[in-house]
Amino acid sequence: MVNIKAVRKSNSGLKARPSGMVALFVGSTSGIGKGSVMQFAKYANAPKVYIVGRSKTAATALLNELERLNPQGTFVFIETDICLIKNADIVSDLIATKERKLDLIFLSTGFLSGAGRQETSEGIDTLCALSYYVRLRLIYKLLPLLSASPHPRVVSILAGGSERDIDIEDLQVRKDYTLIKAIRTCTTQTTLAFEELAKSYPTITFCHVHPGFVVTGILNKFTHTAKGMWTLPATLARWTFIPVVQLFGRSIEDAGEWGAFVSTSAKYPPAKPKQKDVGIALTEGDTIAQSTVVNDDGQGNGVYRLNNYGENVNNECDAILANYRQNHVGEKIWEETISVWERATKRREP
Ligand SMILES: NC(=O)c1ccc[n+]([C@@H]2O[C@H](COP(=O)([O-])OP(=O)(O)OC[C@H]3O[C@@H](n4cnc5c(N)ncnc54)[C@H](OP(=O)(O)O)[C@@H]3O)[C@@H](O)[C@H]2O)c1
Repeated sequence: MVNIKAVRKSNSGLKARPSGMVALFVGSTSGIGKGSVMQFAKYANAPKVYIVGRSKTAATALLNELERLNPQGTFVFIETDICLIKNADIVSDLIATKERKLDLIFLSTGFLSGAGRQETSEGIDTLCALSYYVRLRLIYKLLPLLSASPHPRVVSILAGGSERDIDIEDLQVRKDYTLIKAIRTCTTQTTLAFEELAKSYPTITFCHVHPGFVVTGILNKFTHTAKGMWTLPATLARWTFIPVVQLFGRSIEDAGEWGAFVSTSAKYPPAKPKQKDVGIALTEGDTIAQSTVVNDDGQGNGVYRLNNYGENVNNECDAILANYRQNHVGEKIWEETISVWERATKRREP
């Protein structure tokens, strides 16, 4: 297993890599994404980084910090409400007009809410849009640019390794909505959708990461969504429980080091690398991670379910995924994802 020292050493190797990596970060205006874009900017050799967020004004301090960390870097902020498929399309079209290749998509949008199902104007649950539908739409639209990179990679920070049995007939979580049901549905869909994409795009690495417990604002924001009888316990938790458990969490700086590592290390090769060099060489004693599906020849599919130490997860969820693969659930999920996008797109037509 790699430790934080080895991760920092690996990341510092980014400086010696060819210049001009192009990366897209969505959800990096705070928390894990912010830590990751900062570490990536600190180490990368003259990168071009697109950052998508809701408010350029709120991101001014981050943009200034990124420019300070890497004066050779170019940092482009795209201001949009990224819970909409429409806006994901605008972002990807914009990047496609400006770039010839894209090396990295790093996705970490999300929130926790006790307010139940909240639909976007496109009819998708907002949590599911930010955790899955918009993330996958960006990847899907940017596949041509990713395919033009020598070693393309997608990293989605959600809950890789925590896939569960989900209601296949209710992938949009319309029935009996709970926060846990929504997160589980998005988590399981992410891994299976990545596996579907990897079949057609074997030169791309797909990493679905569980970041562990990271001290971000997500829990405090969650307590503010409590309603009715939950308001008092939530307020108490904000002043007592949360500050205590946060003592045991990972800082966003360290989470960012791990984020940059998963984004750049050769530990995570795609199924069919275009070239021998797929990332920063492994540190001594480290080994290549295991893909979610490995064929009889030992060839992995280039999809990784990773824990907070960047290691592939082997747990009780493997059997759930194996059963889903056998029953072609990934294909169903992908078809349903496309129809959800189509319905969302049609909604905006006059
Ligand atoms: N933190 C943990 O311990 C932990 C553990 C397991 C999984 N995760 C998952 O990791 C991901 C990142 O979590 P985090 O802790 O880094 O969260 P965070 O600090 O709250 O950051 C979330 C990001 O999503 C954006 N966002 C939130 N709601 C949005 C909305 N309605 N529209 C557009 N953008 C929105 C935020 O933008 P603004 O800056 O504009 O608010 C921010 O960039 C989430 O999916 C979370 O569930 C986190």
